[in-house]
Amino acid sequence: MCGIVAAAARREVSEILLEGLRRLEYRGYDSAGMALLDNEGNLLLHKQLGKVSELERVQALQPHYGCTGIAHTRWATHGEPSAANAHPHISGDRLALVHNGIIENHATLRDELKAAGYDFASSTDTEVIVHLLHYYLQQGLDLLEALRQAVARLEGAYAIAAVDADHPDQVVAARQGSPLVIGVGIGENFLASDQMALRQVTDRFIYLEEGDMALISPSSLQVFDQQGEAVSREQTRIDEVVESVDLGGYDHYMLKEIYEQPRALAATFSAGAGLLSDDACFGDNAADIFDRVRNVQIVACGTSYHAGMVGRYWLEELAGIPCEVEVASEFRYRKRVQHEGTLLLTISQSGETADTLAALRNAAPGEFVGSMVIANVDNSSLVRESDLVFLTRAGAEIGVASTKAFTTQLVALLMLTIALGRRGGMEPETQRELVNALQRLPDYVQETLELDTNIEALSEAFIPKHHALFLGRGIQYPIAMEGALKLKEISYIHAEAYPAGELKHGPLALVDDDMPVIAVAPGDELLEKLKSNLEEVRSRGGELFVFADRAAGFESEPRVRVLNMPHCPEAMKPVIYTVALQLLSYHVAVQKGTDVDKPRNLAKSVTVE
Ligand code: AGP
Repeated sequence: MCGIVAAAARREVSEILLEGLRRLEYRGYDSAGMALLDNEGNLLLHKQLGKVSELERVQALQPHYGCTGIAHTRWATHGEPSAANAHPHISGDRLALVHNGIIENHATLRDELKAAGYDFASSTDTEVIVHLLHYYLQQGLDLLEALRQAVARLEGAYAIAAVDADHPDQVVAARQGSPLVIGVGIGENFLASDQMALRQVTDRFIYLEEGDMALISPSSLQVFDQQGEAVSREQTRIDEVVESVDLGGYDHYMLKEIYEQPRALAATFSAGAGLLSDDACFGDNAADIFDRVRNVQIVACGTSYHAGMVGRYWLEELAGIPCEVEVASEFRYRKRVQHEGTLLLTISQSGETADTLAALRNAAPGEFVGSMVIANVDNSSLVRESDLVFLTRAGAEIGVASTKAFTTQLVALLMLTIALGRRGGMEPETQRELVNALQRLPDYVQETLELDTNIEALSEAFIPKHHALFLGRGIQYPIAMEGALKLKEISYIHAEAYPAGELKHGPLALVDDDMPVIAVAPGDELLEKLKSNLEEVRSRGGELFVFADRAAGFESEPRVRVLNMPHCPEAMKPVIYTVALQLLSYHVAVQKGTDVDKPRNLAKSVTVE
């Protein structure tokens, strides 16, 4: 999704801005742009549809240099992807501005500004901000005050950075609902929507808070709160080595990340050493909050929501704790009644998903006994704003399709189940068994990865298909949902998941020889019921792909293809079946020739509603 990088320095910054954009590329975008102020105070602009490499190409052909600048990758919300709609947007040849977020009252503001004589060069919501800023500067206000007046008119979410040719060494910024961080340098300062973009120039960061505004120059940085008071925000040093984000010999990040799972799962589990006796891995106040938890409300989006659904089975079945799970975009707008003693648990790879963040922020005072997040990105908004934090150790996930983030979220959820279960009378023997299973999980996943060639062979049958049906029962139902999501997002094959028992209540009508049916069929207690559901499919000419425990008694036969899965403890099955389905989607997508790591229309981090 959209990314911002900005710099105010004494050295030339075009390469710093471009490198920042390259580091944000994985988030998904459709166009990119950069504005620089040169030594003579000229505003120089490049904007391109397509990749950052396109922007680099025009910068090489017609170099722009300057010590102050802003740059942006855009993911279209208002107005189609085009060079005209790419940021920065300009006003009066002196001002340039980049924006992440959505301005909800842009139409009203546009009419007002047109009436005041402003011409619009794009169909974006963002352009109203730069003209508003220009309007207030024309009233004689200084740059910061003009920005304050401009953002006071905005409804919606924004992270903004702007430069003005009349203030050639300054960048001003504001945030509300979208993240923005200052990178603190020596004789230079920076801004970005994600610290990742600035790790090549600094390891010191100041995270702006809701409603903050900032002004940076090479020699100073100032932050102001919503009331306009100068404030001092905490500076964070990020020491960890920036992980290599190259392909490491794999054809795609998604495949690399699928194969990284044994290591990621082990690292995530090792963060909870001592889990059987203390709660340290969830944060300082964990014991106090957990002692008061009687229910859990999980809120998340997409793949993270599927992890939450798996978590519900564990929390209810293993820990005896009532649990609700809801997608954040619904939860945030619903009038709700909470049971007493409810923990609000958000799950998010990025920690920046707008709907999930809004769900946390909208929680009424006293509605929950506390909030906890399971996230993969340290210092993300959800991490900074939650009472308790469990960081998954998946490492950077670049592929838009979430893989290792999901399975590490499952590990975190099982660890939370153990921590809460300890209080609710979960037998010590059960706790130990779960911990042992988690310890061996990387081996089971490794065994599953070794089935890659067999899974690739199965995938060929999907190439001519336009639809697919995924079936699962019990805890494997959310795994079927996750399998369907993976297939649709990267191969563009329409896929739906159903609890297998729902088949004859409607979807069976769709089954014919053109509709592959994928069944997640570990040998659990629901196996016999699942077998009869599968018979229903077969007797209607459907083609079945059964992912089954090798001990479950499924055998391949005409129109039934069975993948024998490793045998492992019950609680580990959701993880290993997920890995197999990830590989299936991956191979289908590769053979269909889609953009596996950056599927069309999708973004890695969904920071707008
Ligand atoms: C997963 O493959 C998707 N790309 C998407 O559903 C994702 O899980 C969702 O947008 C939530 O993101 P988050 O985990 O960063 O909050």
